[in-house]
Amino acid sequence: MFSSNAESSTPSRKRSRWDDEAEQDDSTALLPPLQPKRRSKSKSLKTEATGASAPQPHTRPPPPLPKLHPSHSIYAPPRIFHPPFLPSRSVYSYERLNQIEEGSYGVVFRARDKITGDIVALKKLKMDEEKHGFPITALREINALMSCRHENVVNIREVVVGDTLTQVFVVMDFIEHDLKTLLTLMPSPFLQSEIKTLMIQLLSAVGHCHERWILHRDLKTSNLLMNNRGTIKVADFGLARRYGDPVGVGGLTQLVVTLWYRAPEVLMGATTYSTAIDMWSVGCIFAELLLKEPLFQAKSELELISMIFKLLGPPTSSSWPEFSSLPLAKSLSLPAPHHGGMRQRFQYLTNAGLDLMGKMLTYDPERRITAEEALQHPYFKESPLPKHPDLFGSFPSAAAGEKRRKFDSPSAPRHAIDYKLITDFDLV
Ligand SMILES: Nc1ncnc2c1ncn2[C@@H]1O[C@H](COP(=O)(O)OP(=O)(O)OP(=O)(O)O)[C@@H](O)[C@H]1O
Ligand SMILES: [Mg+2]
Repeated sequence: MFSSNAESSTPSRKRSRWDDEAEQDDSTALLPPLQPKRRSKSKSLKTEATGASAPQPHTRPPPPLPKLHPSHSIYAPPRIFHPPFLPSRSVYSYERLNQIEEGSYGVVFRARDKITGDIVALKKLKMDEEKHGFPITALREINALMSCRHENVVNIREVVVGDTLTQVFVVMDFIEHDLKTLLTLMPSPFLQSEIKTLMIQLLSAVGHCHERWILHRDLKTSNLLMNNRGTIKVADFGLARRYGDPVGVGGLTQLVVTLWYRAPEVLMGATTYSTAIDMWSVGCIFAELLLKEPLFQAKSELELISMIFKLLGPPTSSSWPEFSSLPLAKSLSLPAPHHGGMRQRFQYLTNAGLDLMGKMLTYDPERRITAEEALQHPYFKESPLPKHPDLFGSFPSAAAGEKRRKFDSPSAPRHAIDYKLITDFDLV
């Protein structure tokens, strides 16, 4: 059911033992846990000895050495400040249930924790072809997930290992849906009040990551998970990186963000970019929630650029002063200036909604709205108000292998007080 398209490609992979339990070989013992280091018999440790009655030498202790050259960097915190390092658990702590999806960086399985019974998602990181140690993408993904803990970011539970050094799995909470699959399967689009709730959650998560100096760099509907309680979780930090760090020669990589969600500055070859690239993607997601299909379904970068120009009108020296200095700008012949077709494309969106969309899909990254500013936008305060997540309908989960059936309609409000959350607009 997961078809590949221009939006993402799916490379082939080798099978691992955990992929197929029938192939499992019991003789494949896991690496033994690390042995604690034996203490050296230094004099300073003698004071810790319990009951050992070693005779104390009668010599005076030597005077302490002057600390001109400490043995470690003064910037490295002592080990006592760090949580204890524990060996990773084995993937065999989990029972494999079904494969959810194979993406470009890893395979995702649904599994059950053999001790707690919790249902989790295990993402097997792609390491097979890695020749230079642990892949940077995997390190960034784990690091970003751990630094961005938030109600609307998928929760990472642990990292587990398989039989070989190439088998590393990220264990996350299992979330029933991804928004892309949900949008394809649900019979009617989300209501305005639901879109507001989803956008608020998405903006809170993105704002939280940006506050922690993390760029996601691959926001799209298939990377947004949604549970049956109307809560969105941003996932797939495989392309995430810290920003604000010194950038290497050649700048930041330009091959980021799935094509349809890629910001114009990245398309134009900018090697320095920032949080605004995520906000462009958020704008594309906002449009997709309204249209129930992706906004820019381009097959190539050139087609994408012409689609953007058509919707927004071409950039001008006043709307995007830096445009002409970007590497690929000179190779483009701009169409004649014209007004974009935003109102035509989003006919049922209120003026406030259209204003917010326009501020997200702004050419100049310096002027593009930030997540924090977007959360304060009047669109979220006008009727219909955001719907309480508890009032969202639940859907059969394709990821859990649940049979597709007629979709439940959103649950009716249980109390009269809830009624004001649903407006006439929602009921048409
Ligand atoms: N925690 C989770 N719970 C349930 N399903 C998940 C979870 N994490 C990922 N998935 C499913 O697996 C898919 C792929 O996961 P993810 O995006 O993290 O992998 P990827 O290899 O980076 O994919 P891609 O490159 O295609 O974006 C998601 O679109 C979603 O359908
Ligand atoms: Mg993904």
